[in-house]
Order: sequence, then C-alpha cells, then structure tokens
Amino acid sequence: MNTNAVTVGLGARSYQVLVGGNLLGEAARHIAPFAKSRRLFVVSDTNVMRIHGERFLSALRADGFHVHDFTLPPGEASKSFAGLERVCGAFLDWRIERGDLVVAFGGGVIGDLAGFAAGVVKRGVDFIQIPTTMLAQVDSSVGGKTAINAAQGKNLIGLFYQPRLVLADTEVLNTLPRRELLAGFAEVVKYGLLGDAAFYDWLETHADAVLSGPGPERTHAIVTSVAAKADIVAQDERESGVRALLNLGHTFG
Ligand code: GLY
Repeated sequence: MNTNAVTVGLGARSYQVLVGGNLLGEAARHIAPFAKSRRLFVVSDTNVMRIHGERFLSALRADGFHVHDFTLPPGEASKSFAGLERVCGAFLDWRIERGDLVVAFGGGVIGDLAGFAAGVVKRGVDFIQIPTTMLAQVDSSVGGKTAINAAQGKNLIGLFYQPRLVLADTEVLNTLPRRELLAGFAEVVKYGLLGDAAFYDWLETHADAVLSGPGPERTHAIVTSVAAKADIVAQDERESGVRALLNLGHTFG
C-alpha cells in the first residue's frame, strides 16, 4: 500500500508524518534511522496494547530492537502529575539515555503524556508518535504540543516538544469504536471549515468512505488534514497567532 509523507517544516526540527496502511507492520524500518542506540521505550495504554501490543512489540524485537514497554490505564486520568511520575520513573528505572527513543503509541492522552515525559527526562530524549485514533492522527500527534492536566484545568503544564517522526497507520483506526472515529472526523471537518472549501465539499460526499475503512478516501482525508495542520504549525509553532484557530475543532467536536 502507498505511503504518503507530509513534512512539518520547522528548520532543524522538521519531521515527516507518514500516512498509509500497515505502517505498524513496517514500523521497524521507519523507526530505525531515529533509534541510534536501538533501545525503544514504548508508552501505551491497556486498550491499545490488548489489540496491537503483541504484534507490534514482537515485530520490533524480531528486527533487533531492545524494547521496554510501559502501559497505563486508558483515559484522561493518566494525564496527571502522578502519570508523569510513573512514566518518568519507568524511564529512569530502565536507565534511559539521550540516544534512546521514546515511542508514544496510543491516542491523544498517551501522545501528550509520553511526549511531555520524553521532553523532560534527562532534559530531553527523542520521541516519535504512533497515533492510534483519528483525532490523534490529524491533530494532537502533529505539532509538538505535549501536556498533563492540573487541578486548575486541562493541558496547563507542558512543553512544545516536537517528535522526530509520526506514523499514522490508517488500518489501526478499524478497531476504534464508531463514536471515537466520529470525534476524529469532526477534527477533519475542522480543516475544511478553516478555509479549504473544496475539501469541505469533498468530505460531504465521501464521509462514509472515510469512516468505513482504510481506503484511499481515508488516506486522502488524513493527509489533507495533516498538511493543513503542518502548514499552520510551520507558521506559528508556539501558538502566538494563527495556530489558535486550531482550537476550533475541540469546541465544534
Ligand atoms: N490541537 C491544537 C494545536 O495543536 O494547536
């Protein structure tokens, strides 16, 4: 199956978002250039690991990576100081070093939490995102926002810390509950509303195909959304202007 690449253009910190089928199966090949030590620290949740964990981790191990994995309960409660402490504690117990690679394997909660932990442990270890929800593929895994929640509100403690690579596998979305897929689709519609009338029109006639399976329509919707987001992030990485428009989708969704 074809793989599409979208570049997030941030100078020396630029990276690619790869979109396609079976990227999970091919992950070792894509990860290899970023895993200098060949030690990987995979952070995930119990739902994702139950469905994909064994196949994913054994494929990485078969390719010669030394893989540690840390699994959290699913849900927003993990995006907390306690969750951060657990993830950083696991990294340190495994003696993580700067040449190692953190892999955020899950939805938005895992991406935000693992990305933040990667950004602060040992003052920063490289990380990649393997988002497993449509919402994370088209929005939260791209652009380097990482955070945990505070008693005072959501996402108030965090970093802008860019991943080195994002792998958006269109097939992993097949196992999502319909409701979760629709939440991601609302984010896709956001990019149409934000000034791409042709894409908005296309979505009106292709929504069913995007939602029903990992065909070319789904790939097109994700690639177009990621390209729109990449463009905004390249203009305004730290949300001092145009990037604030992206918050529209969350309200709209
Ligand atoms: N999710 C909004 C942003 O990344 O800016």
